[in-house]
Amino acid sequence: MKANFELTGPLTELSSYPTWAQEMIEACEPARRSVRDHAMWDLMREGTMDLSTMRNFMVGTWSLIERFPSFMAQNLLKTQYGRSAGDNLARRWLVRNIRVEQNHAEYWLDWADGAGVPREEVLDGRPPRGTQTAAEWCHEVCGKDTLAAGMAATNYAIEGVTGEWSQKVYDSAVYAESLPAAGRKATLRWLQLHAAYDDTHPWEALEIICTLMGNRPTPEEVDHLRECIERSYISLHYGLERCLVRQPVNHVEEQAA
Ligand SMILES: [Fe+2]
Repeated sequence: MKANFELTGPLTELSSYPTWAQEMIEACEPARRSVRDHAMWDLMREGTMDLSTMRNFMVGTWSLIERFPSFMAQNLLKTQYGRSAGDNLARRWLVRNIRVEQNHAEYWLDWADGAGVPREEVLDGRPPRGTQTAAEWCHEVCGKDTLAAGMAATNYAIEGVTGEWSQKVYDSAVYAESLPAAGRKATLRWLQLHAAYDDTHPWEALEIICTLMGNRPTPEEVDHLRECIERSYISLHYGLERCLVRQPVNHVEEQAA
C-alpha cells in the first residue's frame, strides 16, 4: 500500500478511506451517538421544549456558531501552498468554506428569534455554565494542534454531527408548525442550510485529514486524532446536558461546590 492517500472511491462512503480512518471513526461512534441521539432534538422535534431550555441552547451554543469561521481561519494559518497535497487541498477548501460560513451567525440569530429567544439575549445573555466547553476546545485544538487535528475536531466532528441533528430537527413538521407562521422560513434557514450543506462537508474534511496523514500514520498519531474527535463530541454532549438543567439565576449551587 502506498504511503500517500488519494481518494479514488466515492467521497461519502467510508470504504473509500484508509483502514485506520475507518477504525477510528467506528471507535468514535458511541461519543457521536451521544450528540446525535440527544434528548434535546426529541424535545424540538416534538415541539415540547420549554422556553428556558431553548434559551439555554441558543445562548449556550452561540459562541461556537459565531467563532466557527475563526477556528477555520486558525487552521488556514497552518497551511502552506505547495508543501504537500494535503496542504493544497486544505488551503483551497478552507478559503472557500470560510466564505460559506459568512451568514450563518446571522441565521442563528434569526432561528433564536423565531424560537422565542430575542437576538439581544443571544448576543449579551449569560451562557449556562458548561456550555462553552466545545468552543473553548475548538479554539485550543485549532490554535495549538496540527492542521489535521484541528480539522478533525471542527470540520469533521462538529460539522458532521451537526448535519445529523439539524436534519432530524429540520425534518420535523411538528417543529416547523410550532413556530410562528410569519417568518418561519427565515427561522428555519440555519437548520435547512446545515442539514443539507453539511452532507458532503465533513466528508471533504475527512478526505483532507486522510491526505494529510497518509495511509500509514503511526498508532500514536491515529490515537491522538481519535481523541480530538471524541473530545468534540463529548464537549457538545456535555453542553447539551447543561442546557437541560434549569439554571439558577446567580449559579449559587455551583459556586458553592
Ligand atoms: Fe455553518
